[in-house]
Amino acid sequence: MSAYLKAYQLAQTQPQDFWREQALKLPWYRFPQTILSNDENGIERWFADGELNTCHLALDQHVEAGRGDQTALIYDSPVTGTKVQYSYQVLRDQVAKTAGMLADLGVSKGDRVVIYMPMIPEAAMAMLACARLGAIHSVVFGGFAPNELAVRIEDAEPTVILTASCGIEVNKVIPYKPLVDKAIMDSRWKPEHVVVFQRNACRADLSEARDGDWQALKNKADMHPCVPVKATDPLYILYTSGTTGKPKGVVRDNGGHAVAMKYSMETIYDVEPGDVFWAASDVGWVVGHSYIVYAPLIHGCTTIMFEGKPVKTPDPGAFWRVCNDYSVNVLFSAPTAFRAIKKEDPNGALLVDYPMTSLKAIYMAGERLDPPTLEWVQEKTGRPVIDHWWQTETGWAIASNPVGLESFAIKPGSATMPVPGYGVVVLDELGDEKSTNQQGFIAIKRPLPPGCLPTVWRNHDRFQSGYLSQFPGYYVSGDGGYIDEEGYLFVMGRIDDVINVAGHRLSTGEMEEVVGGHEAVAECAVIGIHDELKGQLPLGLVVLKDGYYSADGVIEKELLQKVRHEIGAVACFNRALVVERLPKTRSGKILRRVIRQIADGEQYVVPSTIDDPSSLGEIEKALN
Ligand code: COA
Ligand code: AMP
Repeated sequence: MSAYLKAYQLAQTQPQDFWREQALKLPWYRFPQTILSNDENGIERWFADGELNTCHLALDQHVEAGRGDQTALIYDSPVTGTKVQYSYQVLRDQVAKTAGMLADLGVSKGDRVVIYMPMIPEAAMAMLACARLGAIHSVVFGGFAPNELAVRIEDAEPTVILTASCGIEVNKVIPYKPLVDKAIMDSRWKPEHVVVFQRNACRADLSEARDGDWQALKNKADMHPCVPVKATDPLYILYTSGTTGKPKGVVRDNGGHAVAMKYSMETIYDVEPGDVFWAASDVGWVVGHSYIVYAPLIHGCTTIMFEGKPVKTPDPGAFWRVCNDYSVNVLFSAPTAFRAIKKEDPNGALLVDYPMTSLKAIYMAGERLDPPTLEWVQEKTGRPVIDHWWQTETGWAIASNPVGLESFAIKPGSATMPVPGYGVVVLDELGDEKSTNQQGFIAIKRPLPPGCLPTVWRNHDRFQSGYLSQFPGYYVSGDGGYIDEEGYLFVMGRIDDVINVAGHRLSTGEMEEVVGGHEAVAECAVIGIHDELKGQLPLGLVVLKDGYYSADGVIEKELLQKVRHEIGAVACFNRALVVERLPKTRSGKILRRVIRQIADGEQYVVPSTIDDPSSLGEIEKALN
C-alpha cells in the first residue's frame, strides 16, 4: 500500500493511535492520556488532559536543545529599508520580555489581547508572548477599518490592545493609533491598556490615560516564564467572514494546533528543522498565524516576515530576491500575488537575477489556483507548484499534495488528495455521497483532525448551526466541488456569500448591510465577480428609495466611501451601480447567481421561478 494511503486509512480507522503517534513528537509538560474525548457541547476534543505551552514549543524547546544560535526569524522590510535576523535565543528573550510587559499590565491566563499591527517582528513577538502567558490573542488585519476592529474588540473583550504607530503600504503611511482610538470609542467594551510600538515613519500621540509606550514598558519588564496550559485551552481567536455582517471568532486550541502544525510541516511541506520557510502573507490572516509564526517555529525552521508586496516594493522581483537572499526552501503565498507579478513581468525577466538554488517548491492557497497562473509559475521558476485547500476554520490544509509522504502528479485545478485526518466527502442536498465527478457540498466526516476549530468564540450555537447541523456527522466547509475517479479533489468555490478578493476572505452579506445602511438605498445586492488580478471583486447593485436620484454618480461614490470607511480599503468595493430593480424569484429572493453570471459574461439559464424575466435585460444593460 502507498505511504499516503496507509497514513490516510490509519487516520480514518484508528484516529487515536494515529494522532497519539504525532503528539509524541512534541515536548509536552504532561503527555495526554486521553487522546480523543467529547466536551460539554458534544464536540470531539483532542488531548484533553495534556499540558503544554505553545511558546515553549515554538522557542524555548529549541534553545534548551542547544539550537539557540539558529536563526528563528528574518525581518525583511523593503518599505522601510530594514533587514534584521533574530536567533532562537534572542527571539525567546524578546518574547519573554514582551510577556513580562503584558503580565505587568495585568494580563494572565485566559485573558484576551487584541493585536492590530503591521508586518513587523513585534507582531509575532506579541502573539508568542500571549501564548507564553496562556493569554488568548486575537490578531486583527491592519487593513480593516475601525468599525471592524470595534466589532472584534466588543466580541473578544480584551484587557489590552497591542498596536504600532503606523502601517506602511506602497507609498503611504497609515497611522494606526487614531484607528484604534476610534474603534475603542465605538465599542461597548473598553480595554484597560493600549500599548503602542512607535515607528519612525510616524509617531503616535499617547495622551490617553490607557496609552503606554511599548519600548519603555518592555524595557522595564522582567522575562516571564512559560505558563502551562491545557491542550484544550484556547491559543487564539481569529475572526473570519461568514454570511452575516458579524464575523465569526474561530477558536484554536493549544494542543491540537501544535500537533497539527508539526504534522503539516513534515507531511505537506516536507521541510526539516533548520530549513527556511517563507509564507508571504500577513499575520492578520490564518496563513500568517499558522505558517509565518507557529508551524515553522514549532518545527525549528527559520521563518520570514516580509513587510512588502509582491510588486512595487520596489519591483516584481521582490519574491525572487527574498527566496534567493535567504536560501528559502519553501515559498507559500496566494495565487493573486503571482498574478500581480505575472502582470508586471510577464516573461519572468527578473527571475534571471535570482537563481533561488535552495527553493524546492511553491505552495498556494487562499483562493482557487487558476491553471494559467499555476502553469506560468511552474514554467518560469521550474519548481513544483502545489495547490492546497484550507480555511481559517481548519488552520491547516484539508487537501494537498502530501509530498512528505508521497508525491502525486499535479492536476491543474485540483488541490490533490485529502490530507490524512480529513475524511473528505462530497454530499448532495440530502447528505448522500455524490458519485465521482459530481459536484456537491464538500464536507468532512467528524471528528475533525487536531487543529480545527472546536467552537465559535462565545457563540457555540453559531458553530453548530453554521457548520454541523446541515449534515449530521459532518462539518460542512462552505465550498463546493467534486472528487474525480482517481480521488483528486477539485474545489470550485464558495456556495455561500463569502468571496475571496486578492486572497482575502470577505462577506458580501456584510457589504450589503453597509450599503443597505445608506439613507438612499431601498435594497441592494453585492456579488463577487471575476477579476483577472484579484480573483474576485465585489460589485454592488442598488435600487434607490423613491424620491432619491444619483446625480453624476454621487450616491455610488458615497457607497464606495461608506464600505471603505466601515469595512476597510481591503474590501476593494470599487464599483456600485444604481438599477431600477433587482431580478428576483416570485418569493422575493434576489437572483444573485444569475446576476453574477451576467456580470461575468457567462451563459445562464433563466430560472423558472423568476418573477419578471425582463428584469434580467435591465441588469445586462446596466452592466454593459
Ligand atoms: N493595512 C492597511 N491597508 C491595507 C493593508 C494593510 N495591511 N493591506 C491592504 N491594504 C489596502 C491597500 O493599500 C489598498 O488600498 P487602496 O485601495 O487605498 O490602494 C487596499 O487595501 C486593497 O489592497 P489589496 O487588495 O491588497 O490590493 P493591492 O493593490 O495593494 O495589492 C496584491 C494587490 C495582489 C499585490 C496583494 O493583495 C497581495 O499581495 N496579496 C497577497 C495575498 C495574501 O497575502 N493573502 C493572504 C492569504 S495567503
Ligand atoms: P480563509 O478562511 O481566508 O483561508 O479562506 C478560506 C476559503 O478560501 C475557502 O473556503 C475557499 O473558498 C478558499 N480557498 C482557500 N484555498 C483554496 C484553494 N487551494 N482552492 C480553492 N479555494 C481555496
